[in-house]
Amino acid sequence: MAAQRITVNASSGPYTVHVERGALGQAGVLLDGLQEPASRLFLLSSPRVWRHWGKALAAGLKGAAQARAILFNDAEAGKNLRTVEQIARTLAQSGADRKSVIVAAGGGVVGDVAGFVAASYARGIRVVHVPTTLVAQVDSAIGGKTGVNLPEGKNLVGAFHQPSLVIVDPQLLRTLPPREFRSGLYEVIKYGIIGDEKLFATLEQGMVSLVNQEAGALEHVIQRCVEAKARIVSEDEREAGLRMILNFGHTTAHALESTTRYRRFLHGEAVGWGMIAAIRLSVAMKLVEPEAAKRMEALIGAAGKLPRLPAVSRARFLEAMRTDKKAEHGRIRFVLTEGVGRTRMASDVPEDLVAQALSSLRTGGRVNRR
Ligand SMILES: NC(=O)c1ccc[n+]([C@@H]2O[C@H](COP(=O)([O-])OP(=O)(O)OC[C@H]3O[C@@H](n4cnc5c(N)ncnc54)[C@H](O)[C@@H]3O)[C@@H](O)[C@H]2O)c1
Ligand SMILES: [Zn+2]
Repeated sequence: MAAQRITVNASSGPYTVHVERGALGQAGVLLDGLQEPASRLFLLSSPRVWRHWGKALAAGLKGAAQARAILFNDAEAGKNLRTVEQIARTLAQSGADRKSVIVAAGGGVVGDVAGFVAASYARGIRVVHVPTTLVAQVDSAIGGKTGVNLPEGKNLVGAFHQPSLVIVDPQLLRTLPPREFRSGLYEVIKYGIIGDEKLFATLEQGMVSLVNQEAGALEHVIQRCVEAKARIVSEDEREAGLRMILNFGHTTAHALESTTRYRRFLHGEAVGWGMIAAIRLSVAMKLVEPEAAKRMEALIGAAGKLPRLPAVSRARFLEAMRTDKKAEHGRIRFVLTEGVGRTRMASDVPEDLVAQALSSLRTGGRVNRR
C-alpha cells in the first residue's frame, strides 16, 4: 500500500495523518518532521498494548529524542482524573517541559487520557497519536477531542487539543481481540452511511474481506475513513454543525451503554444497534426509501451478530436518551439518514415513533411509515 498523508486543518495549524502499513518502524523519521523538535519523548501506553508493540515502537523511535515510557491501565474504569494526575506527576518528576512531546500508543482510552494530559500539562504540550485499535485509527485519534470520565458521566471533563501528528499503521490491528476489531467495523460502516456512495459500495463489496482482516481491503478502507474524518473535522473542528453527523447511531448507542452500565456492549456494538434504530426512525419519518434502508441494515448485519438487547423499560430508555450530551432542553436529538451520504439532524421526532423504533429492534419488525 502506498503511504497516504492526509492533512487535517485545525485552528491551531494543519497536521498530518500518516497512514501506511509498517509506519510504526518510521515513527522516529516522522517525528523528525515536526516543525519544532521534541526536547524529550514520553511514551504513554498501557501494559497490554506495550506487551505487543512496545519494542517495535521503541525501535521505530530510535534516533529520535530521549524517550521514557509511562504505562497505565487502559480499562474504561481507569479513564479518570486520578489517572491524569498520576501521569502528570510522573511527567513533572521526570522533568517534562514545554518542548516535550507525548506519544500516545493505544486505543481510544489511551488516546483520550494522553490527549487530555497533553492539553493541560504546562498549559498544553504536543501529542502524537499512534492508534492501535480500529476505532482509534479511523476515529478517536483524529479531531482533537480528549477527556476522561466522571462518576456522573462519560467524557464529562475534557478539552479540544489537536495532535501534532497521527501515525496510523494498520499492522497494529493484528493483535487486537476479534471482538474489538468487529466493534470498530460498525464505526467504519457509519462512515459508509454518512459518507458517500463510493465508500458505501466498497464496504458492501468488501465486508467479508474486512471481517477476515485482509490487509489490502482493510488498509484501503482505513484510508477512506481517515479521509472522511479529516474532511469533517477540518470543516467543523468544534462540532458547531457538520461534525455532528459523526453522531449517527450514537443517541441510541449511548442510552444502550449507560442503561447497561457499559458492561454489555462494546461502544461500536452499541453504535451498530443505534444505527439500525436511526435507520428505522428515518423510514418512519419518510426521510429515506425503504429500499435504501434495507441496504444499510444489510451492511450492518454483514459485520456479524450484535449482542442481545437488554430488557430495559421504555421509560428508562427514553430518560437515558434525554440526558445524552446531544439533547437540548431535554429534547432527544437524532442524526437521521435521507440516503447514503445525506444526513439530517432532528430534535422533533415524536417519542412514540422512537419507542416504536426501539421495540422494532427487539422483534426485528418494521416501523410504520407516517
Ligand atoms: N476522542 C474521540 O473522538 C473518541 C472517539 C471514539 C471513542 N473514544 C473513546 O475511545 C474509547 C474506546 O476506545 P477503543 O475502542 O479504541 O478501545 P480501548 O482503548 O478501550 O481498547 C480496547 C482494548 O484493546 C486493547 N488493545 C488496544 N490496542 C491493542 C492491540 N493493537 N492489540 C491488542 N490489544 C489492544 C486495550 O488494551 C483494551 O483492552 C472510549 O473511552 C471512547 O469514549 C473517543
Ligand atoms: Zn462512536
